[in-house]
Amino acid sequence: MDTWALLKQLSEAPGVSGDEGAVRAILKEAIAPYVDEIRVDALGNLIAVQRATVEDPLRVMVEAHMDEVGLMVIRADKDGYLQFQKVGGIDDRILPAKAVRVGKDAIPGVIGIKPIHLLGSAERKKVLGVDDLRIDIGASSREEAERLVKRGDRAVFDTTFADLGPRVKGKAFDDRAGCTVLAALLAAGPYPVELHAVFAVQEEIGLRGARVAAYGIDPDLAIALEGTVADDLLKEKDESPTTELGKGPALTAMDRSVIVDPRLLRFLIQTAEQAGIPYQIKQPGVGGTDAGRIHLVREGVPSAVVAVPCRYIHGPVSLLDKQDMDWTIQLMEAALKRISPDVLAR
Ligand code: CO
Repeated sequence: MDTWALLKQLSEAPGVSGDEGAVRAILKEAIAPYVDEIRVDALGNLIAVQRATVEDPLRVMVEAHMDEVGLMVIRADKDGYLQFQKVGGIDDRILPAKAVRVGKDAIPGVIGIKPIHLLGSAERKKVLGVDDLRIDIGASSREEAERLVKRGDRAVFDTTFADLGPRVKGKAFDDRAGCTVLAALLAAGPYPVELHAVFAVQEEIGLRGARVAAYGIDPDLAIALEGTVADDLLKEKDESPTTELGKGPALTAMDRSVIVDPRLLRFLIQTAEQAGIPYQIKQPGVGGTDAGRIHLVREGVPSAVVAVPCRYIHGPVSLLDKQDMDWTIQLMEAALKRISPDVLAR
């Protein structure tokens, strides 16, 4: 499996929460040769099973979310501009003047803004929110706009993937990086565990897809794969970053949604150290992941989070270090090869 070709394809596909079909189709084709069962559940989660190489195996759920943050068209103005809302967490300050693609026909547009020539000094300092902004698709009337797009259509940032040598940049590495890692894990299997791979929907609007997937699978343990915040660019004072590029996979101890099972965290650290794979512990307390829902399903599921550090997530372009992604795949492969029920012994 060519992981970089897959990441490029996934990065350039639109997949705002609730509209993950294009991403799901790419993943379904990519993983089909490596799995024993594949299904799409009621909410749209893509769930694949890879049988174990041993009898009576642990049931391990490994999950990554397919959806990305984006925009939704709420109505067209009489002049043909599109009013929109955000789907998921996007900083208002990054919206103005960005190129977007709208709806299933990928209609090109731009988030309109007055040129600087016309702005007074007070206006230049004001942060424009979604209520002040419109998507301009070149239509000049409501009727013309409505021929091209409909209420409820999603819009994504119009971003081309690029290989920067040791790093790559592209849209939606949160969590297409995780999806790529999970696909690569399936390609490298099978393992001495029954691997339940979940490509989940609707993470960015409240961790919804993973919750029902975990309920259906009822796993012995779960690992959520993420593209997580790397804020190593602009260092202030003596603060250390949440995670850094080039330092290996980020392991979570606690975020706003979950306290990672200490047995699994210890196991992942031991696995990395034995295999000589660098790792970093993500600064506790930041962000939330699907593990936040998975660990609360049924009578509880021991859960962990392993993430590829990514700069500028939830914006038009994110950037990651290739080695971090390779190391994340290596760590997860090693973990799936050596995990046993003893890890969960009390
Ligand atoms: Co994410």
